[in-house]
Amino acid sequence: MNVLGIETSCDETACAVVRDGRDVVSNVVYTQIKLHQPWGGVVPEIASRAHVEKIYGVVKAALDEAGPDCKIDAVAVTYGPGLSPALLVGLNAAKGLAMSLGVPLIGVNHMEAHLHTPFLRDASFPAPDVPDPETLAPMLGLAVSGGHTCWVDMLKYGRYQIVGQTLDDAAGEAFDKAAKLLGLGYPGGPVVDRAAKQYAGGDFIPFPKGRPKAGTAALAGLDADLCTSFSGLKTALLHHVRQTYGEGPVPAAEIPRICASYQRAIVGVVADRTATALRRRHYQALVVGGGVSLNGALRVALGDVATRAGVPLLLAAPKFCGDNAAMIAGMAHYRRNLEGEAAFEVDVHPSLEAGDEP
Ligand code: KG4
Ligand code: ZN
Repeated sequence: MNVLGIETSCDETACAVVRDGRDVVSNVVYTQIKLHQPWGGVVPEIASRAHVEKIYGVVKAALDEAGPDCKIDAVAVTYGPGLSPALLVGLNAAKGLAMSLGVPLIGVNHMEAHLHTPFLRDASFPAPDVPDPETLAPMLGLAVSGGHTCWVDMLKYGRYQIVGQTLDDAAGEAFDKAAKLLGLGYPGGPVVDRAAKQYAGGDFIPFPKGRPKAGTAALAGLDADLCTSFSGLKTALLHHVRQTYGEGPVPAAEIPRICASYQRAIVGVVADRTATALRRRHYQALVVGGGVSLNGALRVALGDVATRAGVPLLLAAPKFCGDNAAMIAGMAHYRRNLEGEAAFEVDVHPSLEAGDEP
């Protein structure tokens, strides 16, 4: 079955065709990063306008790349979480396409799709050692992106339950805010990652590790040991910079040490909560997805955590870590929770969480 997927939840306009949930036939991503860079973050109005301008060309390019013999059996689309005006562009394009092709429409949760990325493969990334996801349950999923950071139980593939999460900023957001504060540009994750690699010393600034107090209402019943908070980290960075350099700029020579220390705090927290979750239950694999999973130090730390827990670590190919539509088309094969007429009635759900039913 060939599914055409559409993704417009944030600042990437993307379309892809995936066969049988795993084999990426075509994958086209138009990134709007340059449009948002002058503003230091994603501007919803600019994002939705750019999606309107690009969606037709991106869908056409994905269909062309798939070739004239590729018959589309269904159309899948992200209906949440994300920016409402941005989601609407993709949802309406997908509805029109599904109607004109006379094929089912499948609504997909963006966060759940990120957790499908380690199972995607193509000619340049054949992933021969990655088994079928349906044979691997129960799995622990870690979704780390610009908008979300959560740990989910996948007791059956396509069924999700959040067991831990950040109570405020997402890990990617924490990277982005630090880069903005340090004047390093947007998006922050890649620049902080690169700067941190330049620091060879061991004299790290002791940034806080964001452990929420047990019983806090914000935990909403989740275990404090599986949750985190990144907002204090950002404030600690601000204080460090103000106390050390006043209102003046941070000297370029200090940037690598600050970035390495800040990144170390984020990576340490994510690795620690993951290790705790792996001790709580027997899992067959640790599955990680989302833009922050591109972070070199995080990949290494999660590798250590998985080895110690004796579970395989499944990470996506770098090209599938950031937002893309292959993950939407692939996930749709396994999670057809919104199909047919129900899918045509669906509206966007900007605050959708992993495991939410429409
Ligand atoms: O998954 P994604 O493309 O979009 C969302 O669904 O949010 O994630 C984007 C986030 C941004 O916050 C970006 O700074 C972060 O992923 N990111 C990284 C790295 N590359 C991208 N964070 C840390 N290290 C990286 N190398
Ligand atoms: Zn995403």
